[in-house]
Amino acid sequence: MKILASFLLLAATLAAADLTGNWVIAQPQGDGTSRRTYLNLKQDGQQVAGTIRITQFYYTIKESSGGPESFTLIAAMMDGHSERRVTYQVRLAGDELHVTTTIRGGAPGPDMVAHRAPAGEGAYPARIAPPALHKVPANSLAKTPPMGWNSWNKFHGRVDDASVRGIADAMASDGMKAAGYLYVNIDDTWQGERDAAGNIRSNQKFPDMKALADYVHGKGLKLGIYSSPGPNTCAGYEGSYGHEAQDAKTWAAWGIDYVKYDWCGARNIYTDEEMQAVYQKMGDALHAAGRPIVFSLCQYGRADVWKWGPEVGGNLWRTTGDISDRWPSMLGIFDKQVDLAPYAAPGHWNDPDMLEIGNGGMTDAEYRTHMSLWSILAAPLLAGNDLRDMPSPVLDILTNREVIAVDQDALGKQGRRLSQSGDQEIWIRDLSGGAKAVVLLNRGADAARMTLKWSDAGVRGKPKVRDLWARQDVAAGGPEFSATVPSHGVVMLSFR
Ligand code: GLA
Repeated sequence: MKILASFLLLAATLAAADLTGNWVIAQPQGDGTSRRTYLNLKQDGQQVAGTIRITQFYYTIKESSGGPESFTLIAAMMDGHSERRVTYQVRLAGDELHVTTTIRGGAPGPDMVAHRAPAGEGAYPARIAPPALHKVPANSLAKTPPMGWNSWNKFHGRVDDASVRGIADAMASDGMKAAGYLYVNIDDTWQGERDAAGNIRSNQKFPDMKALADYVHGKGLKLGIYSSPGPNTCAGYEGSYGHEAQDAKTWAAWGIDYVKYDWCGARNIYTDEEMQAVYQKMGDALHAAGRPIVFSLCQYGRADVWKWGPEVGGNLWRTTGDISDRWPSMLGIFDKQVDLAPYAAPGHWNDPDMLEIGNGGMTDAEYRTHMSLWSILAAPLLAGNDLRDMPSPVLDILTNREVIAVDQDALGKQGRRLSQSGDQEIWIRDLSGGAKAVVLLNRGADAARMTLKWSDAGVRGKPKVRDLWARQDVAAGGPEFSATVPSHGVVMLSFR
């Protein structure tokens, strides 16, 4: 009798403590959308299986422990050739499921509450087979590296219609536009939900994209936007998966001039080997939409994108992971460009990511270095700071016409490393008309005397030399040129 009673109690407890079902955590984002996490769980006694979908990620539960009401779940997914793992703690309390994630082996994150959701809601979409490969016709844009501004580095999710208009106003009037900056690019978090016909809509932060495009065009500038080939963007907003042609048409109708297309949620559906076909799909869609739109590939330099970027109609492609506003991040990205010079040419560029100049994490000398290195690389120059509120030294760095002229040189040849010795490096770039530019870079903690032999730079005789930051002609010296280069600084020259 006693045994039966305890058995019944245990059975009742297990039945009551069942996590089986579809659960959703909905966190409002202040723009009419919610960040939604779906836990689709199946409890079998002391075991829990199922999937967890959060922002751009879709995990399968691999291990569970604990029970009957509190579990530790270890979930995993493949991301290219590597596996991502995440640990969740879940606890059933009445009608609620309390969820915490352990972030990078550290302390548990905040307590989140999931509620039961209808079966099938938030289910991951089925795979659409990628198309066969072919060449997308070139769009004849970006003959020199694109210049402009992008919202992400400074604003992240805080970008909205008013800030974009303010940036366009500033860019048009403060010398940025006059120096060549043209594109005003909205990054992630502008997206709302699709309408019943599947058309993408902007969220409450952007009440009318067409009106915003008209406004930006009225300033003589161009407007850019952002999406992903996956169902979700990196920030978890709506991506273009299965809506590529429709979205390209919508953007064209709004008057969009530039699209950054970020791999993000596509990682759950496609392998790195399929990236080219997936990007080709949007390249075709933009071509068919019939409006000149710069196509910016963002997949962090995976799958040797520089070898196939032009095939899919790409005008630029990111070569690395995200930059941050710190000297080691900027230099670490720069170092990864060393072998990529052969892949840059008018119409398609290596993109070492947006500028951090003016965001506060580096000194002015370091920001001058950032500007010089990006220019010797023929990199896109997309300012990433708040142009509405920019101290004059920052504006001076971003608008140095002589440095920009190197970046924008019509020959379109990316610079290469000429020599390296300890913390000192010399980079050289061929310019049109037989001219050249060099950057003398000093990574060291102390100022350093650096010397360029004119014969190493391919110069015979005495060149005419210009110091691009001092903005003055300088003496070529004898067979070599010497200068003291400040710590973390550069001397940048052009000569012919
Ligand atoms: C990725 C990209 C960034 C930015 C964010 C937005 O991390 O590499 O440049 O677009 O997504 O979520």
